[in-house]
Amino acid sequence: MLECQKHYFDLPEEINYLNCAYMGPMLKQAQEIGHEEIDKRGRPYLYKRDDFFSPVQSLKESFSKLIDNTEADRIALIPSASYGLSNAAKNIHCTKGQSILIVSEQFPSNYYTWKRLADEKELEVKIIGPPNAETDQSRGWNEAILEQIDEHTAVVAMAIVHWADGTLFDLGAIRQRTEKYGAMLIIDGTQSIGALPFSIKEIPVDALICGSYKWMFGPYGLGLAYYGERFDQGVPIEENWINRKNSKQFENLVNYQKIYKPQAARYSVGEQSNFIYVRMLDISIKQILKWKPVNIQNYCKNLITPYLSEFRSIGCAFNSKENLAYHLFGIRLPERVDIIKLKNHFEEKNIFISIRGNSIRVAPNVYNEPKHIEQLLEALKKVLG
Ligand SMILES: Cc1ncc(COP(=O)(O)O)c(C=O)c1O
Repeated sequence: MLECQKHYFDLPEEINYLNCAYMGPMLKQAQEIGHEEIDKRGRPYLYKRDDFFSPVQSLKESFSKLIDNTEADRIALIPSASYGLSNAAKNIHCTKGQSILIVSEQFPSNYYTWKRLADEKELEVKIIGPPNAETDQSRGWNEAILEQIDEHTAVVAMAIVHWADGTLFDLGAIRQRTEKYGAMLIIDGTQSIGALPFSIKEIPVDALICGSYKWMFGPYGLGLAYYGERFDQGVPIEENWINRKNSKQFENLVNYQKIYKPQAARYSVGEQSNFIYVRMLDISIKQILKWKPVNIQNYCKNLITPYLSEFRSIGCAFNSKENLAYHLFGIRLPERVDIIKLKNHFEEKNIFISIRGNSIRVAPNVYNEPKHIEQLLEALKKVLG
């Protein structure tokens, strides 16, 4: 069982940070590497040819381990989730009249991308909303998604957990249904990979797109994407030298090369060798691999479970236990709560958390302790009266 790992982070004692879904704190080790690399950039003659390639390869291998992928060449480096999604959208084979399925209130980067494709190719965007059931939203929502996947579906684009309230989707069942109809399944893992176990072998999605600055503690501006076989012959949204075959031969670069490097390499962003960010993210993922996502998820579970009934006793509601992602979940507050008062009270008590409508989004990680959940409970009790 994992103990509290707060000593790996630079979070001040008086701060109650329950908002990893907004931005994860950087690990001290990553900060050190970042400083080291910035210093090195003052001396460009220190950069060798291999510095453009080896750290990137190491990062691809680390991320592969995190998602249980055995082919590191299936990983591309992306500057944002929207970039990775755009590469996927550009390579969906679809015909007029087909549909794109997304879920309601999906993160904007994972909506606009598909809206554009739909407008360009005359497709229909079907937005699947949650059922009305107050207590077991996940089950009904999953059922509604499965029902809507049929022979007209070109692509299902969604996340593993809903970014706003943590609803956990049944990707295994959704994958089976998309396979049955030959539809692509494109997953945004930004709010789950790192804190929730995921295996590409078990759920072979067509693409898995992840920003890293939340649950992978990565730098803002570098993410990772997995692209499966159906993207092997695709066209990337931009062309750059390093993604072509033999790009290690610097002296030969203007003997222009028709062939891309294999698998997903064509989808990596230009200047992917980003010396500072690549090493920072690599060391962060390596630390997560030592902790293991399953232990991180259990850590969050053990942190919150003892308090669930007390939250309920003051009128708060959760998704049912089976469908709760413990690293990111919504608490629906009673109607009577004064949100402005609650917000001010959280600020006063240094509690960092997202408030959305009549819900709060709790997003703990391995640096949180029971006292942080107790403080949250106390704050809610105080404002609810
Ligand atoms: C589910 C989800 N996807 C993606 C992102 C980030 O998207 P982008 O990298 O396009 O800014 C966020 C940020 O909050 C998110 O919650």
